[in-house]
Amino acid sequence: MTTPFVTTAYIAASILFILSLSGLSTQATAKGGNLLGVLGMAIAFLATALISQGYPIQIGSIGLGILVGVLAASRVAMTAMPEMVALLNSFVGLAAVLVGFAEYLQAGSAGAGLEETIHRIEIYIGVFIGMVTFTGSMVAVGKLQALLPSRAVLLPARHLLTMAMLVAMVGLAVPFVTAPGQSGLLPLGLLTLISGIFGGVIVLAIGGADMAVVISLLNSYSGLASAAAGFMLNNDLLIITGALVGSSGAILSYIMCKGMNRSFLNVLLGGFGEGAQVSSGKHSGPVVEATSTNVTEVAERLRAAQTIVIVPGYGMAVAQAQHAIAEITRILRDQGKQVRFGIHPVAGRMPGHMNVLLAEANVPYDIVLEMDEINDDFAGTDLVLVIGANDTVNPSAQEDPTSPIAGMPVMQVWQAETVVVFKRSLAAGYAGVDNPLFHRDNTLMCFGDARSNINGVLAQLTPVAGGSGSEAVLSLA
Ligand code: TAP
Repeated sequence: MTTPFVTTAYIAASILFILSLSGLSTQATAKGGNLLGVLGMAIAFLATALISQGYPIQIGSIGLGILVGVLAASRVAMTAMPEMVALLNSFVGLAAVLVGFAEYLQAGSAGAGLEETIHRIEIYIGVFIGMVTFTGSMVAVGKLQALLPSRAVLLPARHLLTMAMLVAMVGLAVPFVTAPGQSGLLPLGLLTLISGIFGGVIVLAIGGADMAVVISLLNSYSGLASAAAGFMLNNDLLIITGALVGSSGAILSYIMCKGMNRSFLNVLLGGFGEGAQVSSGKHSGPVVEATSTNVTEVAERLRAAQTIVIVPGYGMAVAQAQHAIAEITRILRDQGKQVRFGIHPVAGRMPGHMNVLLAEANVPYDIVLEMDEINDDFAGTDLVLVIGANDTVNPSAQEDPTSPIAGMPVMQVWQAETVVVFKRSLAAGYAGVDNPLFHRDNTLMCFGDARSNINGVLAQLTPVAGGSGSEAVLSLA
């Protein structure tokens, strides 16, 4: 029974969810956004509990959910966040499947005539989206946890198999929708099985490094699955939250694809980078053609520079160099220099990867700028430090129309007076494309692990007070 109180509570929760999303759009307001989301969810729980009859089950399951959620969220490492999100997506998918079956089996829930047909279509679509989300997310978790091969696993004749599954799923809708009473369990069961295989096969075919886009897409599907469950249960709040999750996941996937200059289809078909001018090996390459530098020279250049931009990439995450970089930033800013960070939308391997690491290292939000905010400033910058970034600073994206990453928006670091690149070799990055930046006249390569080299620079910059700079640095490591 829906009372005016419950309706008001649902509207309040919906508004809080929208405000939460808006808060999450900038780092400075993200914490507040999260709190608004929590408040909205608490109101939604309360209102839902009021309209349901089985209080002990409700309270028990909500309590258990909160316990598991808090334990999981407080223990998960930042690096395991994609797995966590994929796992949570899978729960939403499974929930939609279970709701679909429960609704179908619940006598009298379907109404009659057209209403019954529409309800069955809702169930069919909900079970399909839910199952694809469930198995797709489980395969994604398996890949990220290295339980399954992270490379693209392409089954023989997979396109034929995919088409056959799609045709079967569309075909099974007819016997399900027209089955009298609850005798459509067989087509519904077959749909569940086939859509489960479908979701698994699709994600299996995607290379591990593309998983961030896939997880964001699955997140969007989980929203659609919630919305479908909302239609089945006639619950407006579920429809609204599902639509919010579905659309924000889709927008995020779109932003990621745009940042990589690729289409959804290209990501879903997998095999990115194959046939590109891939560097011959992880640590090979024409090192002599690039100009090497060392931590002492980098420290000297930092002392001489007045405007500095730091551009981090995936290598900073691998090396966990963010704390040492944050400390260097603090020292340079204390000396009155302008130090800012430039973040490419797909730097790293997941959305907001660099922002999270820099926030963890307490880098002030106001000096962390997005690519579009800083790209025009490189021309007037004395020194750029590129920390483990590669594809996102590759000039061939703009200058070589034959490059596999041609057209991808990149950070135009080469326009600065001097660029120092911290990486271990001249090897290619994620896209497998050589980077001419490393061979430019104004580029210096600081080879080696980013954390040890940045710590080396920090040791040179740290004022000696009752001990050597190296001692101060050791305490940071
Ligand atoms: P990448 O192009 O992947 O390059 C990272 C570089 O880090 C590598 O070339 C590697 O060079 C270096 N590196 C690794 N470990 C290091 C260490 N310990 N110390 C120093 N350097 C280290 O990175 P990017 O510029 O951040 O670009 C991201 C790429 O991922 C883009 O192609 C993007 O399209 C793709 N991608 C991103 C996302 C999201 S959402 N962010 C999702 C999917 C794909 P060495 O081996 O020589 O050290």
